[in-house]
Parts: sequence; structure tokens; C-alpha cells
Amino acid sequence: MLLDTYGRVATDLRVSLTDRCNLRCTYCMPEEGLQWLGKSDLLSDDEIVRLIRIAVTQLGITEVRFTGGEPLLRPGLVGIVERCAALEPRPKMSLTTNGIGLKRTAQALKAAGLDRVNVSLDTLRPEVFKTLTRRDRHHDVIDGMAAAREAGLTPVKVNAVLMPGLNDDEAPDLLAWAVENEYELRFIEQMPLDAQHGWKRDGMITAGDILQSLRTRFTLTEEGSEERGSAPAERWVVDGGPATVGVIASVTRPFCGACDRTRLTADGQVRTCLFATEESDLRSALRSGAPDEEIARLWKVAMWGKKAGSGLDDPSFLQPDRPMSAIGG
Ligand code: GTP
Ligand code: 5AD
Ligand code: SF4
Repeated sequence: MLLDTYGRVATDLRVSLTDRCNLRCTYCMPEEGLQWLGKSDLLSDDEIVRLIRIAVTQLGITEVRFTGGEPLLRPGLVGIVERCAALEPRPKMSLTTNGIGLKRTAQALKAAGLDRVNVSLDTLRPEVFKTLTRRDRHHDVIDGMAAAREAGLTPVKVNAVLMPGLNDDEAPDLLAWAVENEYELRFIEQMPLDAQHGWKRDGMITAGDILQSLRTRFTLTEEGSEERGSAPAERWVVDGGPATVGVIASVTRPFCGACDRTRLTADGQVRTCLFATEESDLRSALRSGAPDEEIARLWKVAMWGKKAGSGLDDPSFLQPDRPMSAIGG
């Protein structure tokens, strides 16, 4: 069991498969991209599957989410999913993607055993998409989401970040479109995890702003806390249901007390939190021939260092060196 000193148990593992991405979202990374990890820095497919096997069979992990960068850029993804689906007990498996590669891969991922996907989409306007992501791929994302829905990777959840002056007027349009297409929309408050360290609290669109904007067109009824469990998203039933909309308010309504996550970076470091300032190196242990029991022990010890929360409200808060794209969101 992955227990921390505040009594929380991690059952949800987020695995970043690559730090690379084929978009350049302005709230994430600069136009020129980042200093990417080298091939030998990355865990191999075998190393990833071994760590997931240890997590599932010895550490109580029941849910595995594949992230990036953009995880569909990892050539071995389908094989990794297939091998994880054969584990006993079989973990639930999901993927968080920008959606571009889904048209090509959705069927194969479903067949390999992936359960569902979350796709990032911040705007319905191709021109705004181009400004936000610096790439002209809006159609690919829309097509990718439809392919995921058709392949049965459902519920397809949609993640949207609203940026002032760019797409902050789009919340009701995004919701109307998501309801029509049977996608579960969630708005995410922008977090200080951009590589450029340009985040400013007072420039951010808050959960309060988003709800106010949605209520100009929809009736929203809050779901109970029982349904929420440890999920980052608070959800509201839209116009009496069955559709819902979520808000992931990491900044203004943190949910760290219920956190059940542990993270693995593409270069084999355990992170206990998005905002952790320290990491634990499992790659060195793997590559120096440590047995499974030793790796499981190191992972447990790492979790003892998990902090109570993100620390976003502390005057001494420091943004982690590793940006979102290299942590996996
Ligand atoms: P499901 O609702 O189970 O599909 O998962 P999810 O919402 O956790 O996954 P997803 O990868 O779509 O993440 C959505 C947003 O929630 C991203 O911006 C994540 O960074 C954020 N998020 C995920 N886990 C945490 C967490 O532990 N803490 C904080 N603050 N944010 C998180
Ligand atoms: N703050 C909030 N969400 C972010 N994402 C990427 N960078 C940030 C940030 N700085 C979102 C992506 C994706 C999810 C994994 O995280 O849009 O949907
Ligand atoms: Fe890529 Fe996601 Fe970062 Fe956008 S937010 S550049 S899709 S890693």
C-alpha cells in the first residue's frame, strides 16, 4: 500500500510516457518547445510495464492513467496498454491526450484494453485554437474525439482551460457543444506549471467566473460530495441531467486532502504531487538490477515524503522546476 504521513492512500498512478508534444499551448510551453529528454533517459516499454506491474501487484494501484507530453507520440503505447491489461488484478486504464492522434489509434487502443480517454480542447473556434496551441490542428482534435467515442473509449471527457482575452467567453458554447456530442466537459483553472513561469494568480479565470458564465445559459445543480470521491473535478448536473459539467479548481478550491495519486515521469522518477519539489529515482534502481521488492520499498518510502497539499497558498510557494508537460498533468 502507498500510504503517506497524512493517512492518504494512493491507488491512482499517472504515468507520463513522453515529455514531447505536437502542440505548443501557450499556458504550457514556449513556441520553440523545450529541452526534450534523450532516448536513454526515457524508461523503455519493458521498464514501464515492470513498474506498473509492481504498482498493481504489490502496491495497491487500481487505476493507471497514461499521460505525456502527448502520450500518443509514444510508439509503444498500444503494446504497453495490452501488457498492462493482462496484469492480475487488471487495472482500470485511461489516457489523457490532446486528441490529435486518436483518429488513427482509438480502435487499436480500445482493442488493447484501454477503458477511456480525456481529451484537451479549449475552444470551438479553429482560429483561436491556432493562437492558443500555435498549431492548425483543430479538425484533428474534433475528429479524434469522435473516433474515441465511436471506439467506445467512453465516457470521453473534455478538458478546457480558459485564458483571459482568448477563449474566456466560450464556456457556455463549449458546454452546449459537449452536451450535444455526449462528451463530459470539465474546466480546469490554470495552474502555475507552465515552463515559462508566467502564471499570475490575478490573471487567471477562476471556478467562480466559469460557473457565473455558465449560469447565464444553463441551470446547474451541484452533485453531492459522495459522488465526487477523490476526483479533482466538482460536478454540476446541467438542466436537470443527464449531462454534467465539471470544474477542476486546483487553485481556488484545492482538493489535496482527498488526493489518491502517485506519479511516474517518463524518465522514471516518482513524484508524489504535481507541485512536489523533490523526486525519487526509480530508474537508477531498475537499471542497477534491484529486485521488485526493493523497487516497491523505494516507492513506499517516496510516498512518506508527500506533502499535505500543493502549497499554492503559502507565501513561500515555489513553482516546481519540472513543467506540466514533463510531469503529465
Ligand atoms: P478522471 O476524472 O478520472 O478522468 O481524471 P482526471 O481529471 O484526474 O484526469 P486528467 O488527466 O484529465 O486531468 C485533468 C486535470 O486535473 C489536469 O489539469 C490535471 O493536472 C489535474 N489534476 C489531476 N490530478 C491532479 C492532482 O492530483 N492535483 C491537482 N491539483 N490537479 C490534478
Ligand atoms: N494549468 C492547468 N491545466 C493545464 N493543462 C496543461 N497545462 C496546464 C496548466 N498550466 C491541462 C491540459 C490538459 C491537462 C492534462 O492539463 O490542457 O487538458
Ligand atoms: Fe501539449 Fe498538453 Fe502542453 Fe498543450 S498542454 S502543449 S497539448 S503537453
